[in-house]
Amino acid sequence: MTLDALSDAAPTPAPGAPPPTTTDVAATRGRVFSGVQPSGLPHLGNYLGAFRNYIAMQEGYDAIYCIVDYHALTSTHDGEVIRRNAREMALGLLALGLDPERSILFRQSDRPEHLELSWLFSSVVPVSWVERTPSFKEKRRTQPDDVNHALLSYPVLQAADIAIYHAGYVPVGSDQAAHVELAREIVRAWNTRYGDYFVEPKAVFTDSPMIRGTDGVTKMSKSLGNTIDLFAPEAELRKQVTSMVTDTQRILRTDPGRPEVCNVCQLHRYFGEDYESIWEGERTARTGCVDTKRLLADRILSRFAEARARLEELAARPGLVEEILRAGAERLAPQASETVRVCHERMGLGPR
Ligand code: TRP
Repeated sequence: MTLDALSDAAPTPAPGAPPPTTTDVAATRGRVFSGVQPSGLPHLGNYLGAFRNYIAMQEGYDAIYCIVDYHALTSTHDGEVIRRNAREMALGLLALGLDPERSILFRQSDRPEHLELSWLFSSVVPVSWVERTPSFKEKRRTQPDDVNHALLSYPVLQAADIAIYHAGYVPVGSDQAAHVELAREIVRAWNTRYGDYFVEPKAVFTDSPMIRGTDGVTKMSKSLGNTIDLFAPEAELRKQVTSMVTDTQRILRTDPGRPEVCNVCQLHRYFGEDYESIWEGERTARTGCVDTKRLLADRILSRFAEARARLEELAARPGLVEEILRAGAERLAPQASETVRVCHERMGLGPR
């Protein structure tokens, strides 16, 4: 589902109301949760694929965003890299417009209740569900020497992340569709065994839930080295755009281009209403790939000029990001402990 499709599905909290820290489940109908890997400063794919919705959903929803450092342990084993990349991702989100006055930004490991709920959930999850998860199969292929147990429980922790705050909406890229679907199934299985309590979350996509990288083929992703880095120095960003693979059948400058397959043309969709006239220029070979790339780089730089300046300002204030993350985690403490308490009660843990 896209954000547009959802406009009448959720209640609108009073404008300017602070994000509630309520523990009342009924009051959480308009709650949003998403998690992002600590992968350093955001790239264009992060922004167009999901972060646009993170920012849009601060209005009218009660939004919670999490840097998922526990999840990062499944693939990254250098602690300093995780710590630095978590900080950079937080900085980038704040620079892009995530406002800690209106939504909550926190680091997963600052709320260890997620791990406890993950364990409680794992007791209702058949092993076959996690073994057949596409991301697990993918990791088994891409990191065959490191098929650690945490990879298998990855989607159970993700379900716990969402469910611990009873979030109903999960803005993500399309690669996360299977995980959100699994979260629904896990919550349903728990509710069936222990009685209705958790909300079944729904994924919310942007109109571009999968942005291709500079190779023009695979999803833009840091691990594939095909990103356009929104916060890179200007020369570096221009170089990344220049390196983009376009229509591989357009060999000569005079050959007509095919905007439907050209990734540069496709990205122009998000940087101006006039993209169809840019496409027409390509089709008629009036313009060449070099022109179209230069224009794209100009537009990316101008669209993100403010965010790039804000990043500098934020980065110059040591301790600020840490303070925001800490305060975010603190605001979530009552809800996290209440959810775990109810689970204990229903599942038979501790004294009555
Ligand atoms: N698996 C997600 C990703 O790789 C990150 C994530 C962890 C997440 N927990 C989440 C996303 C909860 C949405 C909701 O992008």
